[in-house]
Amino acid sequence: MPARASKVETLRWRDGRLEMIDQRALPALVRFLQFESAAAVADGIRSMVVRGAPAIGCAAAYGVALEALRLQRKQPADFGAGLEAGFTALAASRPTAVNLFWALARMRIAWQTFSGSTPAQIAPMLLAEAHAIYAADIEANRRMGEHGAKLIENGARVLTHCNAGALATAGHGTALGVIRSAVAAGKKVHVFANETRPFLQGARLTAWELMQDDIPVTLIVDSSAGFLMSRGEIDVVVVGADRIAANGDVANKIGTYSVAVLAQRHRVPFYVAAPLSTIDANIACGADIPIEERSADEIRGYGETRWAPDGVMARNPVFDVTPAGLVTGLITEKGVVPAPDAGKIRKLLDAA
Ligand code: MRU
Repeated sequence: MPARASKVETLRWRDGRLEMIDQRALPALVRFLQFESAAAVADGIRSMVVRGAPAIGCAAAYGVALEALRLQRKQPADFGAGLEAGFTALAASRPTAVNLFWALARMRIAWQTFSGSTPAQIAPMLLAEAHAIYAADIEANRRMGEHGAKLIENGARVLTHCNAGALATAGHGTALGVIRSAVAAGKKVHVFANETRPFLQGARLTAWELMQDDIPVTLIVDSSAGFLMSRGEIDVVVVGADRIAANGDVANKIGTYSVAVLAQRHRVPFYVAAPLSTIDANIACGADIPIEERSADEIRGYGETRWAPDGVMARNPVFDVTPAGLVTGLITEKGVVPAPDAGKIRKLLDAA
C-alpha cells in the first residue's frame, strides 16, 4: 500500500486485510476494525465506520479486492458470481457519494481487462488497482491543497462543515487539505467547525483531526454560522462534496446549503473542494442527485441517549444541494474553476 499522507490514518492494508479507523467511536476511542470481505466492507460503509465520499470510494475498491482474494481458489464461474455479488452489496451501501460508484466502475474495468486470466491471477491485480485508487486520491488531495491554499489569506478565519479531511479521504483531505496546505505554506489559519447535526462529524471528527495537527479550531453549533458571518468573523467558507452534477450543483452534508445562502448574504466567498471523481457527468443538475435519508433515531438522540419524545415524527435527509450559483469556486486537482457552470465543468472533464 502507498505511504500514508496524514497523521490521521483512515484506511490501511495490513496482513492481507483492510483496516479502517472506526469513525463512530472517535474521538473517545481510536480503534481500527478489520475487514475481510466485500459484505463486511459494505456493512462498514453503511454503518459509518468509514464515511466521506473519497474514503467510501477507496473502501469499496478494497472491498472488491478482498472479495477477489477470498474467492481466488474457486472455479472461474463461481469466482465471477461471487465477485458480482460483492459489487452489488457495495453499490447498495450508500446512495449519494458518487465516488463509491466511480471506484466500483474502475474496479470493474480492471476485472474486465484481466478477464482472460485465472481467479488467482485476477485477485492480486484487483488489489493493485485498489492501491492505485488510494494513492491517486492522496495525490489529488495534495494538488487540490496547493491550488486551494492560494485562496486562503494569511490570518483567515475559515468556516467548514461536516468533515472533509483526512478522515473523509485516503489522506490529507479535500476542504481540510486546502487548510492543511495553507498552513504548510506558512499561513496562519483559524478554522471554525460547524458541529454538523445530527451525526456530529464536525464536532467529533473535524475538531479531533485538526487538533492532531495543531491547527487552531473553534467548534460552533451549525446555527451560529450566520451570526458569526454577520459580525464579520468568518472570511471564507471551504467545504467538500459528495456529488457534483454536470451543471455544478453540489450535494454535500445537510446544512451546507444553508451555509452557502448565508455566505452569499454576507459576501463571504464559498468554495467547494472536491476531486474530479466527485463530479457526476451523467447527472444534469442537483435535483437529480439521490439524497440519502437515514434513521430518524439519529435526530431523536445520540448513541444511547434519547432527548426527543418517544414516537415523535422526525425526518433525516443527510445531504442537501447547493446550487452552482452560490459557489464562488470549485477547487479540484486540475485547478480552481471560478463560478462553476455546465460549460466550465465540461471543459474541466474534457481536459482531464
Ligand atoms: O455522511 P458522511 O459523513 O459520509 O458525509 C460526508 C460529507 O458530506 C463530506 O463533506 C463529503 O463527503 C466531502 S468528504 C471529502
